[in-house]
Amino acid sequence: MDKLLLLLLLLGIFPFVFFQGVAPDTLCMVCKNFKKGQCLQGKGNCTMEQGPGCRTRDFFLFSEKGRWNFNHTELDCYDFCTSSNYYIGDLKISSFCCKGRDFCNKYIGKGKE
Ligand SMILES: *[C@@H]1O[C@H](CO)[C@@H](O)[C@H](O)[C@H]1NC(C)=O
Ligand SMILES: *[C@@H]1O[C@H](CO)[C@@H](O)[C@H](O)[C@H]1NC(C)=O
Repeated sequence: MDKLLLLLLLLGIFPFVFFQGVAPDTLCMVCKNFKKGQCLQGKGNCTMEQGPGCRTRDFFLFSEKGRWNFNHTELDCYDFCTSSNYYIGDLKISSFCCKGRDFCNKYIGKGKE
């Protein structure tokens, strides 16, 4: 009876341990103004439980010389994160998403440079 109980206990615990190992939460950096690898404003963190939801967004402004000039980078968590370029008038926003490594969103995009 004791062995049966132990077996049930192990069966009950292992899937949980396994699941935790496969899909760990990812801690992401939150920042309103990220430049040269440093957060200048609004620093914090957020957690993504699943999916590539650590987000990095580079903001560019269209210059009079006809070029996209990098302005700043924002970091946060977003459930529906997709890598894309988004244009609103003379503003361009490039998004990047990552997961699986804590603060991975501070290693991508223009803000890291
Ligand atoms: C995440 O942010 C909270 C406050 O917002 C802070 O207390 C905590 O230490 C941070 N965790 C890490 C790992 O930076
Ligand atoms: C450009 O970056 C500055 C911070 O360096 C920010 O205050 C400003 O809102 C940004 N401009 C745009 C249009 O995002």
